[in-house]
Amino acid sequence: MGENNKKETLVADDLLLQAKNLSHEFDYKLFKDINLSLHKKESIAIIGTSGSGKSTLLNILSSLLKPSSGSVVFKSQDMYSLKQKKLLKIRRDDFGIIFQAHYLFRGFSAIENLEIATLLSGENIDDNLLKELKIEHVLNQGVGELSGGQQQRLSIARVMTKKPQIIFADEPTGNLDKDTANIVINTLFNYIKNNDAGLILVTHENELAMRCDKVYKLEELKLQELKWIYY
Ligand SMILES: Nc1ncnc2c1ncn2[C@@H]1O[C@H](COP(=O)(O)OP(=O)(O)O)[C@@H](O)[C@H]1O
Ligand SMILES: [Mg+2]
Repeated sequence: MGENNKKETLVADDLLLQAKNLSHEFDYKLFKDINLSLHKKESIAIIGTSGSGKSTLLNILSSLLKPSSGSVVFKSQDMYSLKQKKLLKIRRDDFGIIFQAHYLFRGFSAIENLEIATLLSGENIDDNLLKELKIEHVLNQGVGELSGGQQQRLSIARVMTKKPQIIFADEPTGNLDKDTANIVINTLFNYIKNNDAGLILVTHENELAMRCDKVYKLEELKLQELKWIYY
């Protein structure tokens, strides 16, 4: 009994995010009664055909969209029952959201875009991260002068500079060639392992998805389990 309790406490301590019975619809039902748990150092991939609701689900998980029903619990706080101010604080301090379209500040240099993240979070710019993402040599260039792939990596670096507990990424490697995509994914994996963080990745690339610990396919209103690794 004592042993069991101890084990449960350990598991509970590792829990970062829990989705409970999530349902959502716009014009038609997208998904129903979805459950999901994300633990420290864990990566989850969500795949599915275009229009199946992956981005909608990610928006719900990442504090951006209240579901039609169900709840999202971050470290034992039911996010959509919190006051707006508290929810914004979680989004700002604890969540790193990488969108399909990145929102860099144009007219600023790469390094200035990173400095904004440090000002907001009080964290430092991690030179190793910039080397890993191969953008350390473009820091003084204006955002407009960077290639699409460099801009994408810069926006990922900016999110990681905040040191979030959970990274939510919607097709983060969409504009990237295969080698660069691998660099980005490896950087994300290293980050979550070294920072006790978690990753939820939406992608349509199966090969990439399969590198995550858990892989789900959003299909027929449910998350179908394709891969599940226990630690
Ligand atoms: N804000 C919205 N208002 C109305 N319909 C939406 C909205 N966002 C998404 N949808 C619809 O929901 C469906 C799923 O969209 P989305 O979650 O973006 O799918 P995916 O990311 O899997 O391609 C689509 O049919 C889309 O048009
Ligand atoms: Mg999408």
